[in-house]
Amino acid sequence: MPYRISRRAPRLAIRVACATMAATAAFAQDTVRVVSPDGRNEVKVEVRAGKLAYRVQRDGRAVLLPSLLGFEFRGSGPLRDNLRIVSSADTTVDDSWTQPWGELARVRNNHNEVRITVAESVPPSRQFVVVFRVFNDGVGFRYELPAQPGLGEFEITGELTEFALADDARAWWIPSFRQNRYEYLYRSSPVSTLDTVHTPLTLEMRDGLHVVIHEAHLADYASMNLVGGPEQNRTLRAFLAPYSDGIKVRGRTPFVTPWRTIQLADRATDLAPSVIGLNLNPPSVVENTTWIKPMKYVGIWWGMHIGTMTWSSGPKHGATTENTRRYIDFAAANGIGGVLVEGWNRGWDGNWMENADKFSFTEAYPDFDLKAVTAYAKEKGVQLIGHHETSMGIQNYERQMEDAFRLYKSLGIDAVKTGYVGDKTREGHAHHGQFMVRHWQKVVEAAARLGIMVNAHEPIKDTGERRTYPNMMTREGARGQEYNAWGGDGGNPPEHETILFFTRMLAGPMDFTPGVFDILIQRGNGTARRPEESRVRTTLAKQLALYVVLYSPLQMAADLPESYDKQPAFQFIRDVPVDWEETRVLDGKIGDHVVVARRERNGQSWYVGAITDEEARTIQIPLTFLSKGRSYVAEIYADGPKAHWKTNPLPVTISRRTVTSASRISLMLAPGGGQAIRIRPAR
Ligand code: NOJ
Repeated sequence: MPYRISRRAPRLAIRVACATMAATAAFAQDTVRVVSPDGRNEVKVEVRAGKLAYRVQRDGRAVLLPSLLGFEFRGSGPLRDNLRIVSSADTTVDDSWTQPWGELARVRNNHNEVRITVAESVPPSRQFVVVFRVFNDGVGFRYELPAQPGLGEFEITGELTEFALADDARAWWIPSFRQNRYEYLYRSSPVSTLDTVHTPLTLEMRDGLHVVIHEAHLADYASMNLVGGPEQNRTLRAFLAPYSDGIKVRGRTPFVTPWRTIQLADRATDLAPSVIGLNLNPPSVVENTTWIKPMKYVGIWWGMHIGTMTWSSGPKHGATTENTRRYIDFAAANGIGGVLVEGWNRGWDGNWMENADKFSFTEAYPDFDLKAVTAYAKEKGVQLIGHHETSMGIQNYERQMEDAFRLYKSLGIDAVKTGYVGDKTREGHAHHGQFMVRHWQKVVEAAARLGIMVNAHEPIKDTGERRTYPNMMTREGARGQEYNAWGGDGGNPPEHETILFFTRMLAGPMDFTPGVFDILIQRGNGTARRPEESRVRTTLAKQLALYVVLYSPLQMAADLPESYDKQPAFQFIRDVPVDWEETRVLDGKIGDHVVVARRERNGQSWYVGAITDEEARTIQIPLTFLSKGRSYVAEIYADGPKAHWKTNPLPVTISRRTVTSASRISLMLAPGGGQAIRIRPAR
């Protein structure tokens, strides 16, 4: 059955609470000011010496100094000089909307907007509009290029947007334009030392203010990277991912760019959950979302990464009918909704990373009976999750994609994991340039229309697409658990996830694939490529805590089913939800530790996840978030005696106690450790 996608232009589902549309005809104005509803954040846009710049202040203190706006085009002069402000118009919005799934159910959208029309004061007298929306949690702005005689079809060679930091803030960053896309360990250094980095870029200013530069609603445009200046220069400049010929964006007017976002928070713990990007995306165009269901899943997957199975055909082929039935049985017995099967389709033989044009997305290997396993899954109340690795063969994939989605749908498969291993397309376009952004749009739109949820690996970064397409569930886009299997760069160090929470995760859900219990990968050692390095650098209790800390609506129990055998701690994975009513960050410091509490969607149980880096920590948490006057049972999964990620990662102590909103829990985290707690109403 096809799924209806609303064809009307995505209407802003907002009610103007107090519209002060003060559009003024041509007037000589050189400064426009707009503040957030709470009055703390202020943006000033001004023209000086013919150039347009904006600046941002919070509580009267500078966050961004005057920062330029504009474009460079091929074949015509830059839109940068001899500018004047023609008019401006203000609007105020205060409304709320509900997410079909997420880290929180209700999202408030409260901002003041100003639309500023700018024109060249000399021929060709081109015009553009800059729209600023100022929220209590930050600022978003975008450009609009109206249809006009001097600007029709265009090729952007550079977006001139700047972010001139007011001090040499400390940045947590990953490099751009490297072979492994977004999959690098985060490093931290002063903003003046940055080369080219990805967003979201999290910065801590000297007074403790946290600033996150990112983008929202990346559609028909190229992803924005940020380029630092020479030493001592604290200005970051937008750098768009290019086509193979160096052009950044092709378009024709009327045209709008993605939003550039500057999230602001007094403390790191106020950064999450981050909703500014969601508020800047259009509302859902998927009319019926009842088929979109968050779930936990297991998969024929970890075995390939630790070397006990293969994607390709042969004696170790993982995706056999028999093996898949085993995973289905395991999922059914443990209340897990999905089973991912990788390596089921033809095309994996040889070096699959180079097989871009060889993959079939509809033909199974002979030892995998797709019809029989889907029927078996259905009987057991489980659903398969399909897998499409493209190896960046975009045309090959686009040719087959809709047939493949239809095939899945006809068999009752509602979800697919896609893969884009490679740093460029076969045609040489950047992995996250406009060419690939357009491809993504096609995939997500076709999937929505045909009733398929998407989990993308090697994705383009998340810019809030899930609001418009709630079938865009989760994605990778950072170093996930698989790096521990490979041992590359020594795997993920204990601090990794405490940084992810305040950086990558601010963009949206991540399919990190937690839940490896065989921490030393004993089952894989001897077969893995670098056995001496491949292991997980956490305690087992920390693996449990990651289910609460690293949000994903499709959340994997990544290990082999046999690793969960006779493991009482697996009960936490059975219990933990994948959809939340509310989220509170109770404590945290980037790179050190995080404590998160989340309440299940439509329920009264809370879950707490706490993780630390290589330092042991004791953290007191008051349970004031619980309902007053109610009694709860806390089921606590803590690092056991002498636990240590390096020397003794396995002990987990499971205990229970009765708690109320007046109770405190003392979290004792081992080096590289964590703690997971389920707090359910007492019966
Ligand atoms: C890399 C993905 O991250 C991983 O999950 C997948 O198994 C392989 N590519 C093969 O598609």
